[in-house]
Amino acid sequence: MAHVFCPRLLRKWGKTGLFLWIQCLAVSVAFADPIDLTIFVDQSARPISPNLIGVFFEDLNYAADGGLYAELVQNRSFEYSPTEQPDWHPLKFWDLQKRGNGDGSVVVANMRPIHKNNPHYILLTVRTPGQGVGIANSGFGGIPLAAGERYKASFWAYQAFMGQMCGPGDNSKPMPVTLRLETRSGELLAETSMQIQGRRWTPYNATLVSPRAVNDAKLVLLAHEMGGVCLDMISLFPERTFRNRQNGLRADLAQAIADIKPKFIRFPGGCLVHGQGIHQYYDWKGSIGPVEQRRSFRNLWGYSQTLGLGYFELFQFCEDIGAIPIPVVSAGVCCQHAGSSPSRGQEGLPLEEMPAYIQDILDLIEWANGPATSKWGSMRAAGGHPDPFGLKYIGVGNEDAITPVFKERFRMIYEALKKEHPEITVIGTVGPFAAGEDYDNGWAFAKALQLPMVDEHYYVNPQWFWDNLARYDSYPRKSTTVYVGEYAAHDRGRRNTLRSALAEAAELTGFERNGDVVVFASYAPLLARRGHTQWTPDMIYFDSVNVYFTANYYVQQLFGQNGGDRCLETDLAAGDSKKLAASSVVDSGSGDLIVKIVNGADTPANITIRLAGLSPDAPMKAVKTVLSGPDADAVNEDAKEPVIKPIQSTELVKSVFTYEAPANSLTVYRINR
Ligand code: AHR
Repeated sequence: MAHVFCPRLLRKWGKTGLFLWIQCLAVSVAFADPIDLTIFVDQSARPISPNLIGVFFEDLNYAADGGLYAELVQNRSFEYSPTEQPDWHPLKFWDLQKRGNGDGSVVVANMRPIHKNNPHYILLTVRTPGQGVGIANSGFGGIPLAAGERYKASFWAYQAFMGQMCGPGDNSKPMPVTLRLETRSGELLAETSMQIQGRRWTPYNATLVSPRAVNDAKLVLLAHEMGGVCLDMISLFPERTFRNRQNGLRADLAQAIADIKPKFIRFPGGCLVHGQGIHQYYDWKGSIGPVEQRRSFRNLWGYSQTLGLGYFELFQFCEDIGAIPIPVVSAGVCCQHAGSSPSRGQEGLPLEEMPAYIQDILDLIEWANGPATSKWGSMRAAGGHPDPFGLKYIGVGNEDAITPVFKERFRMIYEALKKEHPEITVIGTVGPFAAGEDYDNGWAFAKALQLPMVDEHYYVNPQWFWDNLARYDSYPRKSTTVYVGEYAAHDRGRRNTLRSALAEAAELTGFERNGDVVVFASYAPLLARRGHTQWTPDMIYFDSVNVYFTANYYVQQLFGQNGGDRCLETDLAAGDSKKLAASSVVDSGSGDLIVKIVNGADTPANITIRLAGLSPDAPMKAVKTVLSGPDADAVNEDAKEPVIKPIQSTELVKSVFTYEAPANSLTVYRINR
């Protein structure tokens, strides 16, 4: 407080005041509680999970379509429907174009689809060509184009039967069409021409280059002769996707995830796995193979999911970033809040349907791991991945009520998996909360079945995390292990405050200290498109062109980039501070000793760090990263100028050194011994 008095003292006492103020300051520093943090290096190292930090991907908040999936056209296959949103229909987000006295029409058809999973397409009829009749799509609120970047445009088409349907025209001649990138006001940015010919569905491809950056462009397809064409799967992708994959991922978002260095990805969701009603569970088989044959449908979060970003792409992404794939399947029941009965309660698949459902799960394992000569392995190979993906884990169930209906079906699935694939670790579920009936029953059931691992979830206030730092200290060792599959600190207003991020960081020190029990942990949800959130807070926000990093993201990144495989005994004599937490690990690969200190208090903490067991005088190089912000309420509203961000520096430390941990901060010391 001494600094607060300084101006008053100065005014009243002049030089004497200044002297008094300096004295006060010295006294206040000298009397600040020194805190001892002792780390018992080497002799106390215990093996812990080297894979603690991962991510959980769910198509929620437009995380896939309009998000991580790089497709720039919205409703490319004309499958949007009022079951998703009352004003949605197959032509939603498409506009009829009649250029230069052109005249014609667009109707939705379903008589001769590309594939049964993709039932709708359009019939574009040109009565008067003018300067073109066609359709335009502005993507997800405007198509973003970068200067000089190449974009892959494509569509499927055939020439419609002339006569009754389209009126006069000559389909012995090809239909000339142009594909254009235009600004919102219609200024031409890029154009290419092609000819549609024949009565069979045929793919057409072109590359367009935008001369300049535009954030709200549109893709326009125009036909130029009298007659008709049927069109479907009208698509535009940046050529540069993450790792340049075909049908790939948006590079900046995928990179943001990769930068966490996640050791695993859980997918395709939590509630999304169940869907709304017992037969609406996620159809993994409908999410692989040629995209035009995938079945898009209403996702539980109230919009359409194309499944263009499906299991193939998710497994591929895991491989690209060195993450373990953890697919989750339903346990043969729907969510207890999403049944189709009037009560919306949990429903189980009829028992006679269980064998086929279990076969679906076994097929998934064959698809992921089987040889390219096996039935399902050959489909993976046909997708471009002849080698197995190396699946080792599978989640069964998500936040389910632990009822007799659930238990019966879970047991059937678990026993089949154990028998057919003992090499796969099954992860069970213990309900939606950190405690309570489903948690207790779920754990009792897991113990009875001797499940290798269960999935715990908690969305709670920041204080809960501080009060539960020792949660796993008392969990039994060498028993069922834990995957904390979903967690987040929900602060007031469900905003991504620094307070929430530090509460999560503190809890993560508890996970690290108990890394023999807590094997995996993933914050949730991962992604959210601004303006399209069904759930907040989220870890990463984005719009068409920007990625916004929350404080919670940086916490995940700091723990993900600084994980270890051995945990050191760490003694924190925190004195009166109830908001200090620490953990220390060793990364055997580099030999680095990593110390994490979370100060969730509004005042700095003076800490003496003792690395017991190290020679006292040898200086060691340390990389210090501090994540902090102006106060606990701070949030990062704009990624271009985040107020909370990690700041890195290097210094030399000895086996005993002091550190003033700033108020509301996470500090990571990475010490190279
Ligand atoms: O992460 C958002 C949702 O929270 C998940 O879908 C569900 O598992 C949980 O209730």
